Amino acid sequence: MADPALYDTYNRAPLRFERGEGVWLTTESGERYMDFAAGIAVNSLGHAHPHLVAALKDQADKLWHLSNLYDIPGQEQLARRLAEATFADKVFFTNSGAEALECAIKTARRYQYVNGHPERFHIITFEGAFHGRTLATIAAGGQPKYLEGFGPKVEGFDQVPFDDLDALKGAITDATAAILIEPIQGEGGVRLVSKEFLRTLRQLCDENGLLLILDEVQSGVGRTGKLFAHEWAGITPDIMAVAKGIGGGFPLGACLATEEAASGMKAGTHGTTYGGNPLAMAVGNAVLDVVLADDFLEQVRDVALVFRQGLESLKDRFPDIIDEIRGEGLMLGIRTKVPNTELLMAMRGEHLLGVPAGDNVIRLLPPLVTTAEEAREGLARIERAAEALGEAALKKSA
Ligand SMILES: Cc1ncc(COP(=O)(O)O)c(C=O)c1O
Repeated sequence: MADPALYDTYNRAPLRFERGEGVWLTTESGERYMDFAAGIAVNSLGHAHPHLVAALKDQADKLWHLSNLYDIPGQEQLARRLAEATFADKVFFTNSGAEALECAIKTARRYQYVNGHPERFHIITFEGAFHGRTLATIAAGGQPKYLEGFGPKVEGFDQVPFDDLDALKGAITDATAAILIEPIQGEGGVRLVSKEFLRTLRQLCDENGLLLILDEVQSGVGRTGKLFAHEWAGITPDIMAVAKGIGGGFPLGACLATEEAASGMKAGTHGTTYGGNPLAMAVGNAVLDVVLADDFLEQVRDVALVFRQGLESLKDRFPDIIDEIRGEGLMLGIRTKVPNTELLMAMRGEHLLGVPAGDNVIRLLPPLVTTAEEAREGLARIERAAEALGEAALKKSA
């Protein structure tokens, strides 16, 4: 049981980890777990990656914090590198995904405002979305369970069903500013938006003077085997929210935009005390050193293939337990026939960590540095977990 001095907002597992290394976590009592949850896609380079540790320690000796009232060289460097590697011309740094989304939403509204359309502040979002827990991002996500009891929903978010083009077209009005979508819904159940749908979104935005905002907080920074998931569809957004993997465990987010989309964000329109802090910048730059290195993403794709094939054969072996394998790269989902928590608990029994998601899915988000051997070890643990579940079901029916 967690300490009663803490808010009761989490149903925490009774696991107390003390240290981590690569894909492994060790509890206070010395038990080792394979971490395929990776802090929900945060520990992109695993735990205690030597290059990140060195970068953080080095910066800690020099300078921790500077106000955004001054130039911060680490910010300039990271922004330039992100701009070079993506569609973006401009970057605003935040501490979290929700803040990156807040910046994205403000950027889109402000763009319409400075272009003579103050009435255009509505943003179209998709059923099953998750964009964070601030008041605006729970309104964007539109999930009743996250909105309940928190007063009037922030105005200006219009939600349409997932993958429903007609509904989307019908929702575009003279008050629409932008369309906001996760290329792969994470919390919604590792639901992939088709390449075709993303391309149509790009086209609809262009035709209607709307901005396309992508939420790549979970799917970005190499997670799908490309630097960003939208690259698989060959499109680019106008604005993109990034967080999680970019900091590898240090709180860091970013809102990326084209020059045009960011044209309304002038001095005084937005700000943050901690966003772009030198410690975060040192780690963010170190993450990019690794992720942008030659062959890194190719290795992610290779390991992802081993994983995917292994999961598909587990699905064939356990058709009463596993319904479907979803995802792209190392953002994978197992949709279960039994309640997802049952397989998740059985996996925990085998000392393997995953994350529950909507639509009865278990998310597997291994660190991007997971080796093929580690992937096979993880698969063996899932196999044992499924066997244990199958045996338990047999006993029950006997
Ligand atoms: C797609 C997506 N957007 C936004 C967020 C919010 O990020 P944060 O919890 O850092 O505010 C998350 C977090 O899970 C996410 O998965």
